Amino acid sequence: MHAVGIVAAAGSGLRLGADRPKALVPLADRPLVCWAVDTLRDGGVADVVVAVPGDELCAFATVLPLDVRLVVGGSTRTASVRAALAAVGTGADAVLVHDAARPLTPPDLVVRVLEALSAGARAVVPVLPVVDTTVVVDDDGGVADTVDRSVLRRVQTPQGFARDALVDAYAWLPPDAELTDDAAVVRAAGVPVATVAGDERGAKVTVPHDLALAELQVSR
Ligand code: C5P
Repeated sequence: MHAVGIVAAAGSGLRLGADRPKALVPLADRPLVCWAVDTLRDGGVADVVVAVPGDELCAFATVLPLDVRLVVGGSTRTASVRAALAAVGTGADAVLVHDAARPLTPPDLVVRVLEALSAGARAVVPVLPVVDTTVVVDDDGGVADTVDRSVLRRVQTPQGFARDALVDAYAWLPPDAELTDDAAVVRAAGVPVATVAGDERGAKVTVPHDLALAELQVSR
């Protein structure tokens, strides 16, 4: 199976309070995007396309290996992945989509996703259980309902797809559609999505506290 990796790295550093795109913020002196590319490569996905902000192409080219392909992302994550997918050649039979914002995802997780695709899954996502009590609130912030958490899962990346399933789903999706992950795109197109075990180390860096935790993790 020939798999190509996509890293969505075109987001801003706003919620992190950073003065640059989040993917360029350093963790142990290396930009987050470099960690994410390493995860894919160490897990066996050598061919990687990274979607970056249009005005930061040079900055990304400076920090990433020469054989990583860069494309200009869009104003939403969905648009960025769409742009990167257009750069994935027809020679690939699988695509793994990963977030630059998940720097410490272990390569084992990439292997699990690849194995599920090899075993015949058309789409697969890593998931973790929900451990907190989870509620629905009304417009005033009052608790309206408690959800049965035993059927809920938190979804991580990398998410794996048969290339044709992902390409067809994006072709079918309206151009301005905005979904929070790629499994939602293929599910909307009617493709069943399988799950594999996720990993707490693959947590997303969103706010400064997440980055502080990641720094602690790499210093241990
Ligand atoms: O903002 P959030 O952390 O949820 O974004 C998830 C990933 O999607 C990040 O790695 C971010 O760089 C990427 N992204 C993107 N293009 C956008 C917005 C987010 O590639 N326009």
